Amino acid sequence: MAIPHFCALFSYLLLLTIMKGAINKNVGVDTMSVKNILEKRRSVRHYDSSYNISSEILTSLVESASKSPNGNNIQATRYLIIDDPDLRNLLMPIAFNQQQVTEASTLIVMLGDYQAFGKDNIIKIHEEGFQAGYFDESLRDYLANAAINYYENKSKEDLKLELTRDVSLASMSLILLANEAGFDTITMSGYDSKELKDILNISERYLDIMLIAIGKGTKAGHKTVRHNVSKVMYRNNII
Ligand SMILES: Cc1cc2nc3c(=O)[nH]c(=O)nc-3n(C[C@H](O)[C@H](O)[C@H](O)COP(=O)(O)O)c2cc1C
Repeated sequence: MAIPHFCALFSYLLLLTIMKGAINKNVGVDTMSVKNILEKRRSVRHYDSSYNISSEILTSLVESASKSPNGNNIQATRYLIIDDPDLRNLLMPIAFNQQQVTEASTLIVMLGDYQAFGKDNIIKIHEEGFQAGYFDESLRDYLANAAINYYENKSKEDLKLELTRDVSLASMSLILLANEAGFDTITMSGYDSKELKDILNISERYLDIMLIAIGKGTKAGHKTVRHNVSKVMYRNNII
């Protein structure tokens, strides 16, 4: 009878050890908390051009970034990966010769898709949510109609702002995810939008918001200061 008791005790102790390991591991994750990444991240402008980010890793980063909040869940953000070296060489001069355009492992053009505001897309997305069992028919119709009505009478300028919000949130997610995965990043708006669209054959259907380069840095980004929080945080009114 003593042997089964000993086995039970042993199993119990083993379980405790495994659980303790798991808890410690979670504590370890804290070193890569969002706060930590925000404190440590720098814009990096020099990259190891021989370093390759696998397609699987890139897909996984984009897949997670696409979980970002977005207006009415119309999912208008598009990630145009530029991995053709010839295209990157063509883009460099229209981006003030910023060397990260050609040096970084990957260059992503962050785009907003105006077609996402269309009725077809809105109905399709809400139908998918219904089919997945996330809401019932009446909520599906309510949400879809609310979104259609919301965008219906908006000007092109308003829609541009909607795309800018959505794509910017997804961009920040991508930057955080890439840094969490051990890469360096830089955001760029320093490029000629018209020339970029011409070179990449991007139609008026899309609004280009920014470029994000991701890779392994060879030189740390210089440190930057931020305003004291008292200068940026207000309560109830701002003058
Ligand atoms: C929308 C946007 C556009 C930017 N464009 C450029 C750019 O074209 N070239 C560049 O070297 N840095 C660019 N940056 C990086 C900023 O200069 C940088 O974020 C800022 O100086 C703060 O430095 P840090 O990112 O290292 O904290 C851009 C950043 C943002 C958010």
